[in-house]
Amino acid sequence: MAQNWTPESWKQDRFVAKHLPEYEDAAALAEAERTLAGFPPLVFAGEARALKGDLAQVSAGQAFLVQGGDCAESFAEFSPNNIRDTFRVLLQMAAVLTFASKMPVVKVGRMAGQFAKPRSSATETKGDVTLPSYFGDNVNGIEFSPESRTNDPQRMLRAYSQAAATLNLLRAFAGGGYANLRQVHQWTLDFMARSPWATEFQQIADRIGESLDFMEACGVDIENDPHLKATSFYTSHEALLLPYEQAMTRQDSLTGDWYDTSAHMLWIGDRTRFIDSAHVEFLRGVNNPIGVKCGPSLEADALLEMLDLLNPAREPGRITLISRFGAGKVEEGLPPLVRAVTREGHPVVWSCDPMHGNVIKSDSGYKTRPFDRILSEVRGFFGVHRAEGTHAGGIHIEMTGQDVTECTGGSVAITDAGLADRYHTHCDPRLNAAQSLELAFLLAEMLNLELGEAREAAE
Ligand code: PEP
Ligand code: CO
Repeated sequence: MAQNWTPESWKQDRFVAKHLPEYEDAAALAEAERTLAGFPPLVFAGEARALKGDLAQVSAGQAFLVQGGDCAESFAEFSPNNIRDTFRVLLQMAAVLTFASKMPVVKVGRMAGQFAKPRSSATETKGDVTLPSYFGDNVNGIEFSPESRTNDPQRMLRAYSQAAATLNLLRAFAGGGYANLRQVHQWTLDFMARSPWATEFQQIADRIGESLDFMEACGVDIENDPHLKATSFYTSHEALLLPYEQAMTRQDSLTGDWYDTSAHMLWIGDRTRFIDSAHVEFLRGVNNPIGVKCGPSLEADALLEMLDLLNPAREPGRITLISRFGAGKVEEGLPPLVRAVTREGHPVVWSCDPMHGNVIKSDSGYKTRPFDRILSEVRGFFGVHRAEGTHAGGIHIEMTGQDVTECTGGSVAITDAGLADRYHTHCDPRLNAAQSLELAFLLAEMLNLELGEAREAAE
């Protein structure tokens, strides 16, 4: 167990807490925290351990991680269709990758708890009115009014209940037949017909169907095989709102270890991953798998210091390093980190977030991410790992199963002028369903290049 750690040790003065909201009414905050602490855990410690085991496979080069979902979940966009559609695009991506690489794919949603957002500016000005920024639906509201922008601790309770309902549906989909590989043809959404990648996907679906027929003819009981009729699906979010995370932290009755039961996996954002950060202190003591965002300002020495704190036992599967340098920057920024981590023998999953380093303001005034830049960062990431002899282990994306127009480009080309059509995100622009699938095909190609070289080297 972590030394000198308690669920509230992050509150000590020696730690620097950034991006945490101030609440006007301390008694109301304490009341909300007490209520949350009495609610059931959302995930069970054993599930977090199972994910850690799966991620250990990734860190050993034997599996690939797909992590994705909204930039910010919202109360307004909470609907069963949104949950189902994001889930099925993630399944499609996993099917493409598994089929092409013959490698297991670990599926993790940025879902069922991704509500709190760090913002570059504490305030927002429109005309001559300045108000606090929007910090995510579990802190305040997106509407630009003084009432809505007031931090309200009761929002944490609503976030909990939305997370619980979302997770309930995800569990039902994952285990109740929806993810059955026999359903693979049904996963393509109608509006994707224009994408050439949807046709490509149908071909894979046909071949999966034929393989299942073949196995059935050989006597395998497809209908009842747990690997084919159900899937493992995990949840994750940025552990930013520490009062919420602390209230959800419980001691596992089997092992006595602490787990943050708000999600299977939690990550530390690029703005809160520094030495002496309250967020690093908090996550040090929980036994879930932990992600750390690695942006251009992260020095190798600081990363190693944080790894020693977060994973002193060098447990495989504990740490996922999510690099987010930006197109044209990853080639230079990532190798020093990879070399330092490899030299010190830290077993990590290397994952690529090609979203957060590639935001631009379009001519039409929207915040967007050109698809070409996203692909370019992914190619750069795979190139670095091929050169260093390490496994490009995963992808971390902001995406939705909806037909939104938030990122420009892709083969169903979204233009600058088209962004206004269906721009719905509550924070950063997301890949839509067709763009996500297209990315999966590119990833499959890159992954096969890596595996082909590894096989050649082994011969
Ligand atoms: C995010 O993942 O939504 C985010 C804020 O990313 P980063 O911490 O990498 O900027
Ligand atoms: Co984001």
